[in-house]
Amino acid sequence: MKGKFIVLEGPDGSGKTTQITRLKEYLERNGRECLITREPGGTRIGEAIRHIILNPDYTEMSDVTEMLLYAASRAQLIHDVIGPAIEEGKVVISDRFVDSSIVYQGIARGLGIETVSRINAPGIGIYQPDLIFFIDIPEEEGLARKKKQKKLDRLEQESIDFHHMVSEGYRKVLCDRPEVIRIDGCLSVEEIHQEIRKYIEEEADE
Ligand code: TYD
Repeated sequence: MKGKFIVLEGPDGSGKTTQITRLKEYLERNGRECLITREPGGTRIGEAIRHIILNPDYTEMSDVTEMLLYAASRAQLIHDVIGPAIEEGKVVISDRFVDSSIVYQGIARGLGIETVSRINAPGIGIYQPDLIFFIDIPEEEGLARKKKQKKLDRLEQESIDFHHMVSEGYRKVLCDRPEVIRIDGCLSVEEIHQEIRKYIEEEADE
């Protein structure tokens, strides 16, 4: 049996990580074997790449280098973790996937949706998400939450205009796609969890 590939997307501070933990607990209580992955990172090579990409000291990093590093981290994650887990019938829940690159590098950095899709295609191969939950939150709210939690990384330190392009980019790229479910990120943690469960249960009934 093939597994399922579920992705959570959204701007910084949208609460994806909290929701992923809740979703994994719920699925495991219902007898599904789950695996959580994060981007950039999730493999030995990917974590080394994460350290380079998010390090605020690398102010000289070009936009193209940034795009290639995210794509490289993702290719290794699919090769080592996502592909094998899906083939074994597990549910993979990923904190971000290629739509993050499309939005952050393709739209906010201006490299273009086409370019980013083409660069990522060989690494992704056949592994497309079955469901994408887009947690939509105003950028000011998301960044305010992040600032309370930790020191901001290189991407989070970008201007408010950059984050505005990210939020708008998500709305543009993820609208009207059958596998995408938009959830209002201003709802409570419990309300968002219940929304996600509702769609997972509907999928299981089909
Ligand atoms: P993330 O791990 O979600 O941040 P945190 O662990 O701090 O919540 O993502 C790190 C940053 O990388 C985030 O600002 C979004 C950015 N990003 C891209 O620009 N492109 C990508 O392809 C991915 C996966 C993330």
